[in-house]
Amino acid sequence: MSNALADTPEGAVVGIEIPHESATLHVTGAALYTDDLVGRTQGVLHAWPVQVMHVHARVTAMRVEPALAVPGVARVLTAADVPGINDAGVKHDEPLFPTEVCYMGHAVAWVLGETPEAARLGAEAVEVEVEELTSIVTVREAIDAGSYQGAARTVSRGDVEAGLAAAAHRFSGELEIGGQEHFYLETHAALALVDEGGQVFVQSSTQHPSETQEIVAHVLGMRSHEVTVQCLRMGGGFGGKEMQPHGLAAVAALGATLTGRPVRVRLTRPQDMTMTGKRHPFHASWEVGFDDAGRILALRAELTADGGWSLDLSEPVLARALCHVDNAYWVPNIELHGRVAKTNKTSQTAFRGFGGPQGMAVLEDLLGRLAPALGLQADELRRRNFYGPGQHAPYGQPIRHAERITEIWERVRATSDYDGRSAAVAAFNSAHAHVKRGLAITPVKFGISFNLTAFNQAGALVHVYKDGSVLINHGGTEMGQGLHTKMLQVAATALGVPLGFVRLAPTRTDKVPNTSATAASSGADLNGGAVQDACRQIIERLRGVAAATLGVHGHDVRFSGGMVTALGGGAALTWAEVIADAYTQRVSLSAAGYYRTEGLHWDAERMQGSPFKYYAYGAAVTEVEVDGFTGAYRTLRTDIVHDVGDSLSPLIDRGQVEGGYVQGAGWLTLEDLRWDGSDGAGRGRLATQAASTYKLPSFSEMPEDFRVEFFARAHESGVVYGSKAVGEPPLMLAFSVREAIRQACAAFGPAGHCVDLACPSTPEAVFWAIESARAEMRVALSTTTPAHVEA
Ligand code: MTE
Ligand code: MOS
Repeated sequence: MSNALADTPEGAVVGIEIPHESATLHVTGAALYTDDLVGRTQGVLHAWPVQVMHVHARVTAMRVEPALAVPGVARVLTAADVPGINDAGVKHDEPLFPTEVCYMGHAVAWVLGETPEAARLGAEAVEVEVEELTSIVTVREAIDAGSYQGAARTVSRGDVEAGLAAAAHRFSGELEIGGQEHFYLETHAALALVDEGGQVFVQSSTQHPSETQEIVAHVLGMRSHEVTVQCLRMGGGFGGKEMQPHGLAAVAALGATLTGRPVRVRLTRPQDMTMTGKRHPFHASWEVGFDDAGRILALRAELTADGGWSLDLSEPVLARALCHVDNAYWVPNIELHGRVAKTNKTSQTAFRGFGGPQGMAVLEDLLGRLAPALGLQADELRRRNFYGPGQHAPYGQPIRHAERITEIWERVRATSDYDGRSAAVAAFNSAHAHVKRGLAITPVKFGISFNLTAFNQAGALVHVYKDGSVLINHGGTEMGQGLHTKMLQVAATALGVPLGFVRLAPTRTDKVPNTSATAASSGADLNGGAVQDACRQIIERLRGVAAATLGVHGHDVRFSGGMVTALGGGAALTWAEVIADAYTQRVSLSAAGYYRTEGLHWDAERMQGSPFKYYAYGAAVTEVEVDGFTGAYRTLRTDIVHDVGDSLSPLIDRGQVEGGYVQGAGWLTLEDLRWDGSDGAGRGRLATQAASTYKLPSFSEMPEDFRVEFFARAHESGVVYGSKAVGEPPLMLAFSVREAIRQACAAFGPAGHCVDLACPSTPEAVFWAIESARAEMRVALSTTTPAHVEA
């Protein structure tokens, strides 16, 4: 048995298709989420935020007495109650109880009540006086006013001026990219309790329990060892619970320490939508030069992320955006500038892809837009610019396995019958005046690891009990992505026992300390490495125990399927027998595992280094049909080939690919966050704060024919059991939907028409793109057929 991280033994439990470990609980409603614990807890107080409905204002006076007069109100929490630091973030720019209202709906105090209704009425009774301040709502206003926060960053290579000067074809343009609401089914929730020793226990729907613990401790003026945070599971996080849960957990914990009673915070959907951060909207302006063959010679772009009122994760999101503008394309001369705008909106945060999608959108959009101007099919223009082996990313990292970009591309072209269907789409379009189809193919290359090297570490705790049963704990959180399922499979594989021998306990900071957020798609890579390490420590000890019983050398002992045997046959022991022997011989049956990703380095200021362990690759072909009267579209068929390495859990990975793609399609074509940018009383108000006004993808937006294939022979030598991360990369396969829509819009215009399509490409945006295509068609017809020219 080899001991390399990626080596998979005979009889492995990884790679087997099994359902999500909680699938039955999910679909029967039996799965417990944080807020379900409230009904099982005695004497809970409910917290309600005092949201101020001004876009930007200074609080000049606040009277809480009227709230205390409301029946059932127990207490009002204000800044004066904070024993530690009144801040909910890691950048110290997010006062938990602010004196400045920085966006419409900003909570300045919290009311605790015996019932949610009492707390709500209490919050309404709090009197807040404010003095209005000037505000900045849109990213354009921020750019005009020079309103920025955090560090500006640049990624560059080569000589852009020389590249542009040498280019046969030069273009410039702009793109505005919309944000996205996470719309996890479970809104933010926390439940805090204090024990007899003053120890604080917070149940939180958080992707980052360790950081929730740190923030709770600093708000309470406590040390980390006095605060424990547990996350049972989340009903979706999607990045929205990486940073945003901390302040809410701190409110619950503060309430609990002050009242001695359990305190619950659970945001309603409108509160969640108006108070918590979203995917960053971006503004981009660019200049690009191509040679005669359509190869990019130079690109200069300026990206502005709309960070909202505080920094939160905006700087790392921007860094990832800048590291993903290139996507799958070699750009010899490149200069990418990025900065974070400060606006009077919610503090925008992580969202699946973490800025990567916004960065890629810039180049994917301009390639789709400019292909006709270069006289090329969009797919051909993309292919001509792919990275090849030996090339480096603009930030200096070699593109490992660059050949996979072309291999995956060719594979999905073949499996989707791209050429045959292109011809069929052209025939359909010439036969239909008011309905057009579009077919597009786009690639994905996404870097895996946290940009910040220090975050790439993880821990695990594995116990084997005397009866041979196994309990594992790791630092990652479960948000539906199937991490726990994969970790069960990793442990069963590493111990050589059947899956049923292993159970998993909820994520807690007192079991595994100092964990990173479950984010950057690295949950399985990192925690899988740590779980495997803990299991292998135990196996090494058991090897000695079994060797003595079997009378062989320890090297020749095999653990597989719950049996312990010697190489070459002979006697066999059961797992339980070996465990019983080990206990009797006083051999420890418990181990703490640790893993850190090797080979990473990153200079965050110069934006140079090798921040990623490897890249995840994929490509998608999507066909859509667009209605010329309404701009509405249907996705007829999607074919995906995606690289997940040797899948740890194929059914889970398939779900991630499908779900990521649909979520990406939502971001690019449906979901439209609208903030009131007028000068009226509603200025800064989020107009889309419920499912009634915010269009989410659902079953009706699924491709009618959806085919997902994993790239074959994709073993990844540097990762646990040869697997690859899958959580975020598939989201960006959805560029193929938007590009297919662009193709369909182009079919309403004359040959060579360049389609400028707003993003998100909602039916309304599509309609206007069709209108401009038609207008150009009329011009083309009138100039080419003189008989029709009007006098
Ligand atoms: N899948 C589900 N069902 N729910 C989620 O909240 N979050 C995504 C992705 N897939 C998410 C999901 C995001 S943003 C990330 S970073 C990864 O899962 C995190 O989990 P992993 O590192 O275990 O892949
Ligand atoms: Mo994912 S955006 O890294 O939580």
